[in-house]
Amino acid sequence: MPQLTDQVMVESIDKLKKEKQALILAHNYQILPVQHVADFIGDSLQLAQQAEKAHAAIILFCGVRFMAETAKLLNPDSRVLLSHADAGCPMADMITAEKLRQFKAEHPGAVVVCYVNSTVEVKAESDICCTSSNVIKIIKSIPKGKPILFVPDQNLGQYAAWKTRRKIITWNGYCNVHHHKITLRNIEEARRRWPGYTLIVHPETPPEVFRQADVIASTKGMADYAKNHDNLIIGTETGLVKQLQQLYPHKNIKALSQKAVCINMKRTSMRDVLLTLLEERNEIIIEPETARRALVSVQRMLDLS
Ligand code: 13P
Ligand code: SF4
Repeated sequence: MPQLTDQVMVESIDKLKKEKQALILAHNYQILPVQHVADFIGDSLQLAQQAEKAHAAIILFCGVRFMAETAKLLNPDSRVLLSHADAGCPMADMITAEKLRQFKAEHPGAVVVCYVNSTVEVKAESDICCTSSNVIKIIKSIPKGKPILFVPDQNLGQYAAWKTRRKIITWNGYCNVHHHKITLRNIEEARRRWPGYTLIVHPETPPEVFRQADVIASTKGMADYAKNHDNLIIGTETGLVKQLQQLYPHKNIKALSQKAVCINMKRTSMRDVLLTLLEERNEIIIEPETARRALVSVQRMLDLS
């Protein structure tokens, strides 16, 4: 394909969307031009809910693989395309279905909660799914006294244990971006540079970080908070910070860490959006029995959300 200007790509994407009855969903961490061509931008829960109610021949998912898989589970009648074939989530790959079966065997009778950042095979082995915005509600729905296993994110599991005062046995997975690129030192520096600002962090950050925050929220929670507040320091992937800075140019919105960049979320370019839609490539196909079992855990979550 020849070099096209952004404007030509936007027009071509819009034309293809109409011709193919396609809907574009984009996560808050996508680059801004991709967010701008999307029909809906949001956090993991919002995007799953949008996918479920979509009446589209094609859903083009601009995000990472587990998100597109969740969309396919919830909307098997639409063809779901992932915006870049290599856009995965390394944390989701930190546990396999086989390892989860071993973990369950070590803790018989436990309820298995899987973060939505997991493969479809892991969801199929789990009892109930959760996202960062509903994890507290999901944990509270489990009868008291039941042992709880939480996979794959140790930090989100520890955040939920702290907030609900429930005993949760966590898998040792983590998001490299939130676990390693957002640190206590970033907080010390930010507090010194911007005194009086509100510090909001994502619950994928480690406990020593989230315990220092004024607000802990999913990316949607952060966006909602920014609607009505000013002077914010945001501790998550920089795509959301850029979105909010563009949306509210007169507000003071700072990134807690400029290094918090998810390379997988940043793989999708405008060219990828155009070519994926044009060639209808990177279609998500899920083995039917795995899909049936995984849907049970996702549907239980949505019924509680
Ligand atoms: P949200 O559901 O808060 O958007 O988080 C998704 C994610 O991958 C965070 O790293
Ligand atoms: Fe996965 Fe972390 Fe990227 Fe989110 S930011 S998609 S958890 S690697």
